Amino acid sequence: MGSAVLSGLALALALVLALALALALPSVALENGLALTPPMGWLAWERFRCNVDCRADPRNCISETLFFEMADRLAEDGWRELGYQYINIDDCWSAKQRDVAGRLIPDPERFPRGIKALADYVHARGLKLGIYGDLGTLTCGGYPGTTLDRVEQDAQTFAEWGVDMLKLDGCYSSGEEQAQGYPEMARALNATGRPIVYSCSWPAYQGGLPPKVNYTILANVCNLWRNYDDIQDSWDSVLSILDWFSANQDVLQPAAGPGHWNDPDMLIIGNFGLSNEQSRSQMALWTVMAAPLLMSTDLRTISPSAKEILQNRLMIQINQDPLGIQGRRIVKEKSHIEVFLRPLSQGASALVFFSRRTDMPFVYTTSLAKLHFPQDTVYEAQDVYSGKIMSGLKTGDSFSVVINPSGVVMWYLYPMALPAQSWHVVRQQALSKSFRPVLL
Ligand SMILES: *[C@@H]1O[C@H](CO)[C@@H](O)[C@H](O)[C@H]1NC(C)=O
Ligand SMILES: *[C@@H]1O[C@H](CO)[C@@H](O)[C@H](O)[C@H]1NC(C)=O
Repeated sequence: MGSAVLSGLALALALVLALALALALPSVALENGLALTPPMGWLAWERFRCNVDCRADPRNCISETLFFEMADRLAEDGWRELGYQYINIDDCWSAKQRDVAGRLIPDPERFPRGIKALADYVHARGLKLGIYGDLGTLTCGGYPGTTLDRVEQDAQTFAEWGVDMLKLDGCYSSGEEQAQGYPEMARALNATGRPIVYSCSWPAYQGGLPPKVNYTILANVCNLWRNYDDIQDSWDSVLSILDWFSANQDVLQPAAGPGHWNDPDMLIIGNFGLSNEQSRSQMALWTVMAAPLLMSTDLRTISPSAKEILQNRLMIQINQDPLGIQGRRIVKEKSHIEVFLRPLSQGASALVFFSRRTDMPFVYTTSLAKLHFPQDTVYEAQDVYSGKIMSGLKTGDSFSVVINPSGVVMWYLYPMALPAQSWHVVRQQALSKSFRPVLL
């Protein structure tokens, strides 16, 4: 009972703290109460693209079968329980023409049962359905777009179908149309009364940076947004995205928080372009960036090793940390080692030691003091991939990690419990005294 009371106290403190932090943040979230942690799920685009040839390739074409089968996998293979909840359609799902009433309709051959039936199927399995639209005359793949005069109608259509998330792309529209249309869609979605997570590609079409992109406005309009280029199935693509996000972290990092996230694009783990080390790196780096975890891979044939990376519980717990603070790159060594840090709730942090080297495993020696952690604290670190725990690490202690080429070592680091005290008591102390999110 005593420990229940203490745990209640700790929870109350955590809530007060989260509130204080939320109020201190410069941007206010879009007020639909959604995406309080980065959305997790599956998105068709990177792996399945605009393959509409169901005669030649029935198993992989964009059709209801693909989404029914992926929904089964999400529900049956342990994904849903871990938080992978959204199953999202991307481009090329619709017919080439609207119907006589001007409504978007799915391609009748590839989606014969319609989107509503797909939504019902997905909901019956405890999942949520996402769909794709494009603010412009056409989608990027050449299907009917949502011009300004169609915004309300399309929002209504998606809501009637039971859609839970909308990715609104920005091909074939001007900057002025986007500045008008993206906020209009936010209002139109709200007016439907259905909670719909709103993902905007708007900043990606405007270079992703101020003065063209105003992140305060964006956080009021969208739950997540694509800042930069589409990911491709290659390590070069992962690196180019990481480079851009790191180079611009002073602008991007403060824009993220509960309800409003930067989106460096899908996870390509399980596909063809990444080695096992590189797959572990994408997962760790996306997690430390508080990125949405939207897998784009074939869950019917995914390898056990890729699945293990994507289903790492501690990794997901870190990604979904309730404070929702995006991490930053804090060290860039001449040796091509980089260190990333994400502050977490309860005084914990995630550390990613990342090697851009191409020779051999590298022994990197540093200390928490060098990484600007507060003095006189004793930490415990858990290796997120091996599960190994290192106890009694003092701020000034020198330590080494061995990082494989294009790989990571990732730590979950927290102030250590003293042997005589219960965990709850120490957690409270961590909250009230030494809790300092380190924003460098
Ligand atoms: C619409 O916006 C209001 C706040 O402006 C919010 O309270 C409400 O939950 C929103 N509704 C939906 C369905 O997003
Ligand atoms: C962004 O928009 C907000 C709200 O309109 C405004 O107060 C702020 O000055 C703008 N920021 C920049 C950098 O232009």
